Amino acid sequence: MKKTIIVTGGAGFIGSNFIFHMLSTYSEYRIICLDKLTYAGNLSTLQSVMDDPRFRFVKADICDRAAVYKLFEEESPDMIVNFAAESHVDRSIEAPDVFLQTNIMGTATLMDACRKYGIERYHQVSTDEVYGDLPLDRPDILFTEDTPIHTSSPYSSSKAAADLLVFAYHRTYGIPVTVSRCSNNYGPYHFPEKLIPLTIANALTDKELPVYGDGLNIRDWLYVEDHCKAIDMIIHNGRVGEVYNIGGHNEKTNIYIVKKILDIIGKPESLIKYVTDRKGHDLRYAIDPTKIHNELGWLPETMFDDGIEKTVQWYLDNKEWWENIINGEYRDYYKKMYGDR
Ligand code: NAD
Ligand code: DAU
Repeated sequence: MKKTIIVTGGAGFIGSNFIFHMLSTYSEYRIICLDKLTYAGNLSTLQSVMDDPRFRFVKADICDRAAVYKLFEEESPDMIVNFAAESHVDRSIEAPDVFLQTNIMGTATLMDACRKYGIERYHQVSTDEVYGDLPLDRPDILFTEDTPIHTSSPYSSSKAAADLLVFAYHRTYGIPVTVSRCSNNYGPYHFPEKLIPLTIANALTDKELPVYGDGLNIRDWLYVEDHCKAIDMIIHNGRVGEVYNIGGHNEKTNIYIVKKILDIIGKPESLIKYVTDRKGHDLRYAIDPTKIHNELGWLPETMFDDGIEKTVQWYLDNKEWWENIINGEYRDYYKKMYGDR
């Protein structure tokens, strides 16, 4: 069956992996990537699909109503999958404004387009961070879809606001929506300001590895392809108006992750540098994925030991991709965030 899907934020980490997954899985689908190409968006990531006749790239801001409406008029999409966001907690602590603009107003603009032109499915890619954090000493507690929203950072608050808007548009205007809340992803094309790619890039270039606080905060890591497959299942078979949590029962402390990467690359632990903690640092995230497993049959396929080996190998094989990033404006960001930390 033919479908046209607008994927916003498709030049970023997860969106690009989703585009590759969809084009290789559905031969008759047309995928349109709408992306503003902020610092986190990279057109070179999409190079392999640029000439595919089933793919179109449009540079635009999801907050730009005229541009979004024009695209709806041109393409009459069946579905929207909204990945576009400011996604980095540390940046949101430095400067919240753009998070509110893109993550909230951008979502509202896309939903208004769905309201005006109609849509078969609007999917909002949300995050487990909307639930806040969990205590370190209660491994029995996990985030379920019924866990109350309780955000910590400007980033997570903006994502939670977007989720609430999506449900408001569903209830008020009847837009057929779904929302997914995933745990931390890792894998190819992950922007090297986040923990795993930053650690790999720094270790490969013999730079210090900054670990916030005592390194004992816990994240629940999922290989990006498993996230993409989950979204594929939700947009096709998920129930309208529902939230689905996505996570692979893979809780690790940050220091475990950093030491694991050093071990794979064969670099010494003396590269580790404990630095001032993140403000308001969430202690632990842990997802209960029972609902998506029971309803849609989703299960993670890539175990962490395999996924992290594959990821390190990808960064070794694709040095040009991340070296271009870390040699650009990223240098100023790095100096500002880690210079005197
Ligand atoms: P990313 O920062 O790598 O990519 C974001 C993309 O959105 C970039 O291509 C950027 O250019 C684009 N973008 C930003 N502002 C835009 C705007 N105003 N208009 C159009 N495009 C814009 O992010 P990511 O890590 O791939 O995350 C994608 C989505 O998944 C986000 O919504 C994030 O909240 C969510 N999420 C991420 C993770 C994770 O571990 N990375 C986990 C759960 C959920
Ligand atoms: O849980 C899902 C979220 O995961 C997504 O919604 C976000 O978009 C995504 O960025 C990610 O947020 P985190 O804040 O968990 O990811 P980050 O890679 O920034 O940090 C992971 C952990 O590592 C966190 O506890 C902070 C710590 N850290 C991070 C950096 C960049 C360090 O110790 N040192 C660092 O230099």
